[in-house]
Amino acid sequence: MSTVNIAKLPLHIKAREKIYPASGGVGRFPVPDDKVPWNVEWPEYQPTDFTAKVVAEGPVWADPEIRTDDSVKLKFNQRDGKVNRKSHIGNYEVIEGVPRNPCGRTGMVGRGFLGKWGPNHAADPIVTRWKSDQHGNILKDSETKKPILQFVAIKRKDTGEWAIPGGMVDAGDTVSATLKREFGEEALNSMDATDAEKKTIEKSVADLFKCGIEVYRGYVDDPRNTDNAWMETVAVNFHDMSGNSVGKFKLHAGDDAGDVQWADICSQLKLFASHESFIQKTASNLDAHW
Ligand code: BGC
Repeated sequence: MSTVNIAKLPLHIKAREKIYPASGGVGRFPVPDDKVPWNVEWPEYQPTDFTAKVVAEGPVWADPEIRTDDSVKLKFNQRDGKVNRKSHIGNYEVIEGVPRNPCGRTGMVGRGFLGKWGPNHAADPIVTRWKSDQHGNILKDSETKKPILQFVAIKRKDTGEWAIPGGMVDAGDTVSATLKREFGEEALNSMDATDAEKKTIEKSVADLFKCGIEVYRGYVDDPRNTDNAWMETVAVNFHDMSGNSVGKFKLHAGDDAGDVQWADICSQLKLFASHESFIQKTASNLDAHW
């Protein structure tokens, strides 16, 4: 695979947010837009070194510390046993044994809350249906005259923002297995449904998830990214065209009461990390209101 062409990557913004999320106030070294690219020299750059305690304690999902004595050999830019250390966007640089964020400076070194050095892979299932009234008529936006799409959104516990119910690809797991598992764990478990209903829902999910349309694959502008660890994802749209499959299941529709809902898709949506752009692309693919 070719080396990353940074000029083609978007300027990360959330990855430079002043305060690192859920860190109790750990601040990043401020990085102005023009200092993001690594090829702009900046001798004054003094990034904060932060690796969260949970990560440093070495749980199964985290890598060990990288030591200069070479005792830890992680295979970057390749599949390393069960861990995929390849980036979706090309080969990243490894400087003195430590991977370097292909999108540039973030104001922080170490891993923050991310377990892996280099890419941390996630998968995002975008489950959609058309918004309809009680008679099943599809509702259109009064201005754009386009049908309104809804997607299954969850409220994230770390940042409190609405998001696609995605999650991390576990070691040895595939993206497609992760998509289904995360949707089950994050969205379905918090639904108001009996065990019997949940069985029917699981069957519908299994059928719907047989064919999805890939919406995005690559780097994510995530607030947890650092100079040495970053998020990447594959986002896939599963559209319940008739509304008779997963689309008929009740979530806490449209209110903020629960932590899972069918959210109306429009340009005013404010979502976690790069999720707005995945949702916009999904709406455009389906020629829906935005
Ligand atoms: C989330 C995904 C998200 C990814 C990158 C993961 O923690 O579960 O939904 O796309 O991070 O931000």
